[in-house]
Amino acid sequence: MSQMGDRPNLPVSAARIAQDIDALAAITEPGRPWTRRAFSTLHLEGRAWLTERFRAAGLETRIDASGNLIGRRAGRKPGSGTLMLGSHSDTVPDGGRFDGIAGVVAALEVARSLADAGIELNHDLEIVDFLAEEVSIFGVSCIGSRGMAGVRPPEWLERQADGMTLSQGLVAAGGSENSGPPRRNIKVFLELHIEQGPVLATEKRDIGIVTAISGIARIEIVVEGRADHAGTTPMGARRDALVAASKLVLGIEHLATDLSRQPRHFAATVGEFAMLPNAANVVPSNVRLLVDIRSELREDLDTFAAALSELCTSVAKGDHADISLRQISDAPAVRMDTGIGTMLAGAVERLGGSHRQLASGAGHDAAFLARISRAAMIFIPCLNGRSHAPEELAENDDIAFGAAVLFETVRALDRQISGRDV
Ligand code: GLV
Ligand code: MN
Ligand code: MN
Repeated sequence: MSQMGDRPNLPVSAARIAQDIDALAAITEPGRPWTRRAFSTLHLEGRAWLTERFRAAGLETRIDASGNLIGRRAGRKPGSGTLMLGSHSDTVPDGGRFDGIAGVVAALEVARSLADAGIELNHDLEIVDFLAEEVSIFGVSCIGSRGMAGVRPPEWLERQADGMTLSQGLVAAGGSENSGPPRRNIKVFLELHIEQGPVLATEKRDIGIVTAISGIARIEIVVEGRADHAGTTPMGARRDALVAASKLVLGIEHLATDLSRQPRHFAATVGEFAMLPNAANVVPSNVRLLVDIRSELREDLDTFAAALSELCTSVAKGDHADISLRQISDAPAVRMDTGIGTMLAGAVERLGGSHRQLASGAGHDAAFLARISRAAMIFIPCLNGRSHAPEELAENDDIAFGAAVLFETVRALDRQISGRDV
């Protein structure tokens, strides 16, 4: 992994990156690191801190209609378009010490280092903290980047959680329920992220050049049984929603394991599970599951969805339960820009690092930015590939190296995208 001693001095400050990541990560639910979920008071607190840091870097800040925090540095040639860098500052519960914030802080450091070096770009530069990249309390993810790309489903606004609608949550975050038209002036979007898998750490490579981001679909399943007395209702006379739901969980694992044997990425997880009334002496009457499906190929996702539907029909029949399925999101796999990938690889080599290409099994805001601009991502290693867990750890030198790669690439893109390209 990190071989900083072999490299020339970097054009960014590793110390400033460490300071900012530590300070932002420390804005966490106490006793539950590293938790700063979108739409919480803590997330707003993190945003207020970031806003100050953006301003201290000389950036002009605003929150756009989709609830994204943006810091802007005007370019020399007004109307040339925007080079955008960033990631997200929200976290999953109990995880996210680096997931998201490494990319936001690295982007901020690029802006600071350009200013320190007195480098003016032709293009406007925007640093962005997207709203709610992780699956939020509303059961949906990438809310800010979907909004910016003009593809946030309008029906999502009515989704409810914690006594509010998504529409109200957006307003509380400083956005609006009308995300407006898709942004059209972004020329390039670059995102740095921890890999969240073991490849770079195992192979001791500095940077992953992301080739594609897996498709992600989420299916909500509601199992309705019947509440009854747990002591008196005979075993054969129950409609136990939890028993039926358990068969679904095992069936999903089985189907996904089969599909994952192909030489391409496939994974499915029941990550959310809630049951009612959740009392020791009552037969469970209602279970809600949220299934998260990742697939490099559309066909695999379709095969899985069809098999899941059949499984639900057969469990409903065998267990006398009512089972309903609803697909609540469906984002296709997205390829990253290969030309920018080559430029990123060139920057890694000039800075004395090693790289390889990688597909992402995780979802990222870059997948939505790719709909409205050229988009590319780099991964940096993380310890043992662990992520979405309290143990998530990335070496600061590795983040700084990634930030230096972004710095070099932004400068090259600013020169390359000019004249009639703009
Ligand atoms: C984002 O972290 C995802 O769910 O892949
Ligand atoms: Mn992330
Ligand atoms: Mn994440």
